[in-house]
Amino acid sequence: MQKVNAKPPVKIGMRRALKAASKNAASQASCKDRRSVRAISVSSGKGGVGKSSVVVNLAIAFDRLGQRVLIIDGDLGLANIHVLLGLSPQYSIRDVLEGRRTLEEVLIAGPGKIRILPAISGKRTLTRFTDEQKLIFLEMLDGLETEIDVLLIDTGAGISDTVLYFNLAAQEKIIVVNSDPASIADAYTLIETLYTKYRERHFGVLANGVRGARAGKDIFSRLCKAADHLLDGLSLDYLGSIPHDPCIHQAVIEQRPVMEAFPEAPSTAAFMRVAEGIRKAAPNTNHGTIRFFRKHILNA
Ligand SMILES: Nc1ncnc2c1ncn2[C@@H]1O[C@H](COP(=O)(O)OP(=O)(O)O)[C@@H](O)[C@H]1O
Ligand SMILES: [Mg+2]
Repeated sequence: MQKVNAKPPVKIGMRRALKAASKNAASQASCKDRRSVRAISVSSGKGGVGKSSVVVNLAIAFDRLGQRVLIIDGDLGLANIHVLLGLSPQYSIRDVLEGRRTLEEVLIAGPGKIRILPAISGKRTLTRFTDEQKLIFLEMLDGLETEIDVLLIDTGAGISDTVLYFNLAAQEKIIVVNSDPASIADAYTLIETLYTKYRERHFGVLANGVRGARAGKDIFSRLCKAADHLLDGLSLDYLGSIPHDPCIHQAVIEQRPVMEAFPEAPSTAAFMRVAEGIRKAAPNTNHGTIRFFRKHILNA
């Protein structure tokens, strides 16, 4: 039995999902965006940069700031949000998208009041969403409108269709980079793809695993230099940095978030600072309305 959160259920049926999402997608772009959920994707280009650790710990930081948080494990190939938290889900996002389970049945309770829509790695990994699944996903987000304040999506590495899709489905995009030149190059490739193919222009950049006070900003400048002269009108916001911290590694081994296992760790304070900064910053509403935004991603 899936450990399900006791909050009021968010039910979603395939037919209702398709009907409602199609209706929304077809609506006019002039309607006001009523959505208050901040949907934030966390991506990196290169793997192993710290996305999942960032997602889990930012979730805890937002939870401590009184935000109702949902994590979606969108790393369908190497799903590990539940592993980082020592949880063993039976069902996954795939069961929802393929219509076998309701969202309510698949959500699991994480630390604090955090809820998690887990993914499970397996032989039959979902690598590409069908149009129907894209609609179901959007409708699922709509159903959560009154239930959560912050949605964090761990998108996985690379520039696969699903990574791009989750980036388009989120209004705010965090790109995690570290000092490895390959991580900067791959982050640039992801940004360039979202910019050239989908005209995405706004990205938040979080430097992870940095050593020294200036290191995060140096990484950010290197990414800006790579992007600036090529991508006109691109805006990159520096969200801060998380220090290299052996406590993160130890926490991964203990299958506990560093913020819980090591409250005094330097990275714990850094995650809190970054979450506070994101919370204060106005959400990027450059997409205009959610309905315009929907058309945009359904055409992707
Ligand atoms: N700031 C950090 N300091 C030290 N180790 C880190 C830090 N961030 C991540 N790690 C380590 O890097 C490894 C990969 O992190 P993970 O979050 O799984 O990356 P990704 O999701 O990008 O593949 C983890 O095992 C963790 O121990
Ligand atoms: Mg990961």
